[in-house]
Amino acid sequence: QVQEFLAKQDFPPMKNTRILQAARGEIPDKLPIWIMRQAGRYLPEFQALRKEHSFFKICQTPKLACEATLLPIRRYDLDAAIIFSDILVIPQALGMEVLMVPEKGPVFTSPLTLETYNTLTWENAVNRLSYVGDAIRLTRHQLEGRVPLLGFSAAPWTLMVYMIEGGSPKAAMHARKWLYAEEATTIDFLQKLADVIVDYLVMQVKSGAQMLQLFESCAEFLNVEMYEKLMAPMLKKIREGVRDKLLQENVEPVPMVFFGKGGSHLVDIPIKAGFDVISIDWITDPRSIRSRHSNVTLQGNLDPCAMYCKKEELVVHIKKMYEKFGFKNYIVNLGHGIHLDTPTESVATFVETVHSFM
Ligand code: CP3
Repeated sequence: QVQEFLAKQDFPPMKNTRILQAARGEIPDKLPIWIMRQAGRYLPEFQALRKEHSFFKICQTPKLACEATLLPIRRYDLDAAIIFSDILVIPQALGMEVLMVPEKGPVFTSPLTLETYNTLTWENAVNRLSYVGDAIRLTRHQLEGRVPLLGFSAAPWTLMVYMIEGGSPKAAMHARKWLYAEEATTIDFLQKLADVIVDYLVMQVKSGAQMLQLFESCAEFLNVEMYEKLMAPMLKKIREGVRDKLLQENVEPVPMVFFGKGGSHLVDIPIKAGFDVISIDWITDPRSIRSRHSNVTLQGNLDPCAMYCKKEELVVHIKKMYEKFGFKNYIVNLGHGIHLDTPTESVATFVETVHSFM
């Protein structure tokens, strides 16, 4: 049955496109909402799936990745699905070994050094990620047009940090050292990563992804000068490269979201690079961006820890949040990924409160 779905070309017609409307600056009938890491461990169904399969086994098996993607959609009235995968599948495709260690998160068995830099396998890297395309195609069929399906990748800087630090970074000291002490290697590295990211995102859209999010989860480690100098050209290369390659292949380009964790100091850079939606963390005040860029759609930004308060208080936090954003050009989300022990009732309250507003 999986093979049959993978071979099929036409996807079921869409019944809900609120998120795409908001990304394009149109006004949907209700505020759209999705949640970063919505398919994660706070869901008992996901924990059951994880008991049977390792994290990367789920990512690599289209049927399992599709199943994980659909879990939150079955439970909640969300307006988007995001394909179940991880940003670290790119380093794996470049030949690095990454393990998902319980309680610890991702661990690289051999973090990247100047000595091992030349062993990365850039050739045909995206071909080794074809399982993500298969998972996307299968999921588009299984979603039956209920909501759009999002694809994603990390930005070059975030990948560089994870690969050099060998896991979740504290201050990204080793990666930052490369930026200053090894500029030529750094630029070569960032450009090669950007090229892989472009091909990977184009592949996701050709497989059925309807919107793309670029995760810059390590934005907080760089000042504006360094980000502008080294990363602005990469963001432009990715935004324009994805659009141009899709147009060349007669595929309609899709909206692109930039999420910068700790990135409020540099939001002008992805906006200038042409990203359609800017996703902000819970520290950032949306009004500080709206006042300078009235036409950009914003996404965010409830503090994931607000999900731990009592229902009535949570509703107040949610209402305060959308008063700050306004109702036009807005996609509701958390300010970062949902935590693993979040009460599932809070997620229901979040979605219902947002949808009951208009
Ligand atoms: O539902 C979704 O949002 C889709 C799937 C998704 C995952 N990771 C699944 C996941 C997405 C979009 C990501 C992105 C991701 N992965 C980012 C960018 C977003 C961010 O948080 O800033 C980053 C930095 C990673 C790397 C990563 N993967 C970390 C740091 C961790 C550990 C997190 C933790 O809470 O322990 C992961 C593991 C991971 N990725 C899990 C899931 C469901 C949990 C792993 C498990 O089941 O053991």
